[in-house]
Amino acid sequence: MPVDRSVTFTGIQFENPFLLSSAPPTESESNITRAFEAGWGGVVTKTIGLHPVVNVYGAKAKFMRTSPEDANVSMKKRPGAALHSSWNWELISDKTLEWWAPRIRRIKEAFPNRVLIASIMAGSGNDKELRHWQELAETAQGEGADGLELNFSCPHRDRRDMGSNIGKDQGLCSVVTEAVKEVAKVPVWCKLTPATADIVVEAAACFRGGADAIVSSNTFPSIPLIDPETLEFEINVDGFVSSGGLGGPAILPLSLAKMAQLTKAFPDKNFSGIGGISDFNQALSYFALGCGTVQVCTAAMLDQAIGPNVIRKLLAGLDRFLGEHAKDGWKNVEDFRGIRRDRIVLQSEIRRPDSADYHSGYETVEGYAAPQPEVAVRA
Ligand SMILES: Cc1cc2nc3c(=O)[nH]c(=O)nc-3n(C[C@H](O)[C@H](O)[C@H](O)COP(=O)(O)O)c2cc1C
Repeated sequence: MPVDRSVTFTGIQFENPFLLSSAPPTESESNITRAFEAGWGGVVTKTIGLHPVVNVYGAKAKFMRTSPEDANVSMKKRPGAALHSSWNWELISDKTLEWWAPRIRRIKEAFPNRVLIASIMAGSGNDKELRHWQELAETAQGEGADGLELNFSCPHRDRRDMGSNIGKDQGLCSVVTEAVKEVAKVPVWCKLTPATADIVVEAAACFRGGADAIVSSNTFPSIPLIDPETLEFEINVDGFVSSGGLGGPAILPLSLAKMAQLTKAFPDKNFSGIGGISDFNQALSYFALGCGTVQVCTAAMLDQAIGPNVIRKLLAGLDRFLGEHAKDGWKNVEDFRGIRRDRIVLQSEIRRPDSADYHSGYETVEGYAAPQPEVAVRA
């Protein structure tokens, strides 16, 4: 019997739950076309905005590797070194909305059964900027986009009213989401920055604004290492660098921790997981925490720019996994989604050699009951 890879996420039908995330693999019509031909169930376009975009000189992204021999994390390629992470300071798409609009239409006409999500970004400081969000949303959905992903997450914005600066402000998260929902006819996903104290706060604000799903994570704020020989940052322009974003294997456990907080706080909501996925085993962790879809960037960039081998491995892994668990009655992703969400508990609930002596880290006073923890930590 053929395996059922399909999922329904925020009301959208996907042939499979694997998407290319908003990034270089999805920055052009030819890339997106190749991605669908390779088998990706969905694609989130490189983020589209209305403001001027001019990238820095030279490389916009590089990859860090490490090896057992030197234990260094470095952008220098050396034999035997394994991928540690990607680092980028690339801005959003430098193509205009007018450039994107006919391409969204052509891609959807060519691949009506594949899912195309338009990632969009504008400011948030005034009504004009909120209207920019609405213009981007209306144009993208008018051209056939199946959904919208609001970029509240890119880590390297100078503008205080954009990207991860929105994702750090719960008021802005809900105001912008609400503005887009006023005009949206398709599902609206909010992609949040992981760089906040408690991502549950911003997610709650997005849901208050009407978000249909939360997407997490974008890259984590980071800077490149200093080369011990030249004393220069491994990536720089005229010796200078600014904070950029870390992606790839290094962020997998960090991103899972964010996702665990989210899915535990909102077990009935929709989540799309990103961060460090290159094959099914990593995607499985996100599904088991409760994600309905997952997205990939770094691994795809390193695999012929759009990840034909990555999607092949993801699909084969899902098929194998469902085959192995047919005996458990699992027929599709929905049957095992969230199966490990409830295994994340307070530290005090974890068994220890002598639990009678442990009172959540508090002293007991002789003759009195153990004090209760004051704040229940979420994850
Ligand atoms: C070079 C580069 C450019 C990116 N551009 C965007 C973007 O325009 N919009 C966005 O939402 N995320 C962007 N991202 C973030 C990715 O979509 C993704 O969230 C992140 O890389 C983590 O996934 P990964 O570990 O699979 O790389 C970019 C990432 C990289 C490496």
